[in-house]
Amino acid sequence: MPSSRLPGLYTLTVEERRRRVAEAAGIDVSDLAALDGGLSEDDAAGMIENVLGRHALPFAVATNFTVDGTDALVPMVVEEPSVVAAASNAARMVRGAGGFTTTVAPPIVTGQIQLTHIADVERAVAALGDAAPQLLARARELSPRLCARGGGPVAVSARILARPPGPDGGVIVVHVDVDCRDAMGANLVNTLCERLAEPAAHVAGSKVGLRILSNLSDQRTVRVTCRAPDDALADARCPGPEVRAAIAAASRFAELDSYRAVTHNKGVMNGVDAVLVATAQDWRAVEAGAHAYAARTGAYRPLAVWREVDGGLVGELELPLAVGTVGGALHVHRGARLALRLAGVDAAPRLASLAGAAGLACNLAALRALATDGIQHGHMALHARAVARAAGAPADLVDDVADALAAAGDVRIEAARVILQAMAAKDTP
Ligand code: MEV
Repeated sequence: MPSSRLPGLYTLTVEERRRRVAEAAGIDVSDLAALDGGLSEDDAAGMIENVLGRHALPFAVATNFTVDGTDALVPMVVEEPSVVAAASNAARMVRGAGGFTTTVAPPIVTGQIQLTHIADVERAVAALGDAAPQLLARARELSPRLCARGGGPVAVSARILARPPGPDGGVIVVHVDVDCRDAMGANLVNTLCERLAEPAAHVAGSKVGLRILSNLSDQRTVRVTCRAPDDALADARCPGPEVRAAIAAASRFAELDSYRAVTHNKGVMNGVDAVLVATAQDWRAVEAGAHAYAARTGAYRPLAVWREVDGGLVGELELPLAVGTVGGALHVHRGARLALRLAGVDAAPRLASLAGAAGLACNLAALRALATDGIQHGHMALHARAVARAAGAPADLVDDVADALAAAGDVRIEAARVILQAMAAKDTP
């Protein structure tokens, strides 16, 4: 990927844009046809139950991203206007200062085996501790293909959850930590837990309860940092140092108040989820893990924070991100596979880096908008265009009608129709 800077991409038609993006990504433009119904009806019917059709959402790329020194077009699928523009704008603000830098932790996912009706939980935990090397060896035998790829189970441990008496007697949970390599890991960790449960229950002298992964993948995190210099934060009306101070204050607001932190994190997840949906990831798993991570200290906290440094802002985001570039829906979804190609993603850590970078970018753009013009300003411009189209404005008049709506401060479909009528009357000789 030579450069993710594609100035004016938003002004092109979809067809022109495809040509431009294919050229930049070194992909044959005909391959982009995978984005139109990238999932066949048969494959869709085989994926879930009671299928009636396939649901469409817009697929876009965010531009201007440099992540770990390499440019990337970031694929995004989202129904909300402004998210792609916000990500691209924020990526432009930070690219001059090196873009985004990420640290991706090893892909460890934890499987849980619940053991119940134990008379002496201390003794059972000690026995499991003694047997941990054998249980780990058994777990590795049960995952030969993953071990051959350099991953596999890496640790077995046990913890007391409840002492008898109680509805379930003494309860212990066994954790099996698994290096999932480029897989998200749900299937392989669940299968492993199901197979390891009996041997573990035998050691503990217990009944077997649930056997399932935990979506709190707090070992499989991504940390993203970036620097936004004052001159990139400034605009014609607002000097950089003022924007910088306002964004830092917005970050502190989220750090002080969980009502605000949730909305702040929603802005982060706008970017993360859009990348996950575009690449057919289990975004519900990531969402569940991200919010549990945000609350890990006992208080719900922002996932991303911004601090003033000399002449700019430094942002830092950390969240668990269990993503995969093999297996799952990628088997059947051609559109999602193309999304990975467009982004130049060849392995799960790179996908985690791009999703994290998109999250931090969306957060920066949201805070900048909130701290300056207010969020409705940008939203209204896009909304006005959608309203103009819905009122029947032809393509060449959409921008004029949208400008007139925004100038009047009345962005309703009726107002758009009145403007269109006035334009038509003016053109009638
Ligand atoms: C809207 O989708 C996201 C924001 O509410 C995020 C935020 O408030 O930081 C703008």
